[in-house]
Amino acid sequence: MRHFLTLRDFTRDELREMIDLAIKIKAQTKAGEYVPYLKNQTLAMIFEKSSTRTRVSFETGIYQLGGTGLFLSSRDIQLGRGEPMKDTARVISRMVDMVMIRTFEQSKLEEFARYSRVPVINGLTDSYHPVQLMTDYLTMLEFGKSDPVVAYVGDGNNMAHSWLYLAAIMGFELRLATPKGYECDPAVVLEAERLAEKYGGKLIFGYDPVGAVQNADVVTTDTWVSMGQEEEKEKRIRDFAGFMVDKKLMSHAKPDAIFLHCLPAYRGYEVSEEVFEEHAEAIFTEAENRLHAQKGIMVWLDEHRDDNGESATC
Ligand code: CP
Ligand code: NVA
Repeated sequence: MRHFLTLRDFTRDELREMIDLAIKIKAQTKAGEYVPYLKNQTLAMIFEKSSTRTRVSFETGIYQLGGTGLFLSSRDIQLGRGEPMKDTARVISRMVDMVMIRTFEQSKLEEFARYSRVPVINGLTDSYHPVQLMTDYLTMLEFGKSDPVVAYVGDGNNMAHSWLYLAAIMGFELRLATPKGYECDPAVVLEAERLAEKYGGKLIFGYDPVGAVQNADVVTTDTWVSMGQEEEKEKRIRDFAGFMVDKKLMSHAKPDAIFLHCLPAYRGYEVSEEVFEEHAEAIFTEAENRLHAQKGIMVWLDEHRDDNGESATC
């Protein structure tokens, strides 16, 4: 049995298989053909943080695959009152077929997975957002950017970390520009560099947005204030001055460059209203692709279950 906790848990071929499944199932869905790949299966979706896209795409996705989604906010289940993650995992995974979790520390997700009898999917942690990056890869392919130079301008956060793993494993060039003090986690950088060496990706780190965006095929960013960082908002807004993706910055990218954003976007901060609206087609295709990319991931995980489904720790 395999869990989808970070992109580095998979080889390039495996990630590509998930993307190919996503492409196939997207075409079937668009043709009105809802193939019940996960008939009668239940996906539990545990949320310790807010969500629009992740909730709607997983719930709709499992339904369109012939199954059912269970939305479990930590405010409503005993997890929120202190029931341990490992007990929650041992209970829920005896009743459902797959689990998606959005939480804070990556270690909490990993603990759940250790005790789970069924595949677990990372729906965002403080460290990674891998389902979003599978979506972004699918979107880049659809927009003809199969071997892109990508510029990520902004916070060295969960999105930046997952971009590092994606570029390293899929083998494309990623240039990161962060403000000083907001660099990526050095342990993630080290691991990404090891993967880049193995697969042929190119990772470039710096502090200059213009240098990063120069002739890029894809420009992307993320909020300066991630969930859980609300108290740092004012300081962050000051520290990120000069890092907004606006028309002037985009003018350094290739003329046919696309701009991607995982959303929610905060116009006037990490992106200007003008750039956002000019690239709305790519951005909202990216949002829709959450539905399709995650179907590919869920079907792939289902196809790779252990025969007996037993977890070593249970
Ligand atoms: N991009 C993303 O994960 O959006 P939500 O927080 O709305 O799920
Ligand atoms: N970095 C953001 C991503 C939101 C989808 C956050 O963690 O809040």
